[in-house]
Formats: sequence, C-alpha cells, structure tokens
Amino acid sequence: MPLTTAAGRPIILAPSLLAADFTRLGEHVAEAAAAGADWLHVDVMDGVFVPNISIGVPVVDALRGVTNLPLDCHLMIVNPERYIDAFIEAGAASISVHVETCPHLHRTLEQIRDGGARPGVAINPATPLVMLDEVLELVDLVLIMSVNPGFGGQRYIAGTTTRIARLRQQLDDRSLHHVHLQVDGGINAATAATVVAAGATNLVAGSAVFNRHHGVADAIAQLRAAVQSEP
Ligand code: DX5
Ligand code: ZN
Repeated sequence: MPLTTAAGRPIILAPSLLAADFTRLGEHVAEAAAAGADWLHVDVMDGVFVPNISIGVPVVDALRGVTNLPLDCHLMIVNPERYIDAFIEAGAASISVHVETCPHLHRTLEQIRDGGARPGVAINPATPLVMLDEVLELVDLVLIMSVNPGFGGQRYIAGTTTRIARLRQQLDDRSLHHVHLQVDGGINAATAATVVAAGATNLVAGSAVFNRHHGVADAIAQLRAAVQSEP
C-alpha cells in the first residue's frame, strides 16, 4: 500500500542500507521491500568529504540484481562527477550530490539527468538554504541533512525542522510540487512525524529500520503509522 498522510499526501520511505547487516544484505533488502519500503537509500562515503568510508559502485551493481526498488544513491564524496556515470550504469535511479562538493553544480546535475537518473542535491546542516536557490528547477530531489553526514545512528538536529518548513514554502511558491523533499539523519517514529508535519515528503531511515532489537517489518510498520497519523 502506498504510504500517505491522513490527508492523502504521498510519502516515500527510503531505508538506508548503511545500518543493515552487510553479511545479510540481500535478506535485509527483501525484508524492507516486503514491509513497504519505497526506495533503498545507498550511502556512499569517501573518507574525504566525510570522516568515514562506506560502500561504492559494486554494491549498487549487486543490489540491482536482487531488487526492483529504486536505488537512491547519496554521494558523500568529493568530485562526484567522476563517478556519476558508473553509478548510473550500475543501476542508480536517483543520485544526490552535495552542494558543498560541487563548484559546477549546474553541470553536475545536468550530467545526472543526461545519464538517465533523477538528480538530487544534498545540503549539510550548516549550509544556508540560499545555496539551493538557482538549482531548484533542475532537481527531482532535495536532501536536507538532519545530522552531519558520515555516520548512522546520530541524533536529529532540532533546527532542521524550520529549514524543512522554509524549503517547503520555497518549493510551493515556485510550484515545484514534483520535487521530493527528503530528510536524512536521525529519523525514527517521533522525528518522522515532525518532519512530515513540516513538509518533508521523503524519509531516509537507517538505524530505526535495521536496528537489532525489532525486526525490519516491525520498524517500518512503526514509521508508517507515525506518518499516517500526520495531517
Ligand atoms: C548519514 C547518512 C544517512 C544515515 C542515516 O551520513 O547520510 O543516510 O544512514 O542513518 P540514521 O537513520 O541511523 O541516522
Ligand atoms: Zn544518506
């Protein structure tokens, strides 16, 4: 069943595989899909832009073979333009690059679109939203970081909520209703409700979905219930 708020606003749920058990990745993907995940969020880290190294193109390639869910690749890497074509070739449906890593952001977003994937732009908690002003018409997705990128399991930064609301207003003012407003970091049943109320339409959740205590299905059901209870 497609996930919507009580008022019928569609919401995309994108579990982040960073928190999955990598020795059982295929099983975790299948569990997430069966529980109603819409996209799978793939966190790519280079140890340069962020202080951690995660996964890359071969993992996306392997995932493509085991799921039909769209693979949403979040590139936390410097010089992302060097790898965009490879991620698309491997099966990325959407690719988000950080505004902080792209001196030629316009060109990079066009490269993603021309390659056949959905372009997204990601923004760190300390970067002013005005940095997105010139590119909102070029993207299918804006990813607002609600933690400093690099690690799963961090706490939602409270100031993100007003940033989401301000971006929601800008997207609405510019009639960009098709652009996903994605929020990433510290999303659980409580914060999911907060960010959806502020205008988010696309939720990334890692440790809240793949936590070791509850099963994946249970965790996704809790997130869905939280979203469905919002107006
Ligand atoms: C953080 C990543 C997130 C991370 C979220 O740098 O971009 O996608 O996996 O993990 P949680 O949901 O645990 O905060
Ligand atoms: Zn991410």
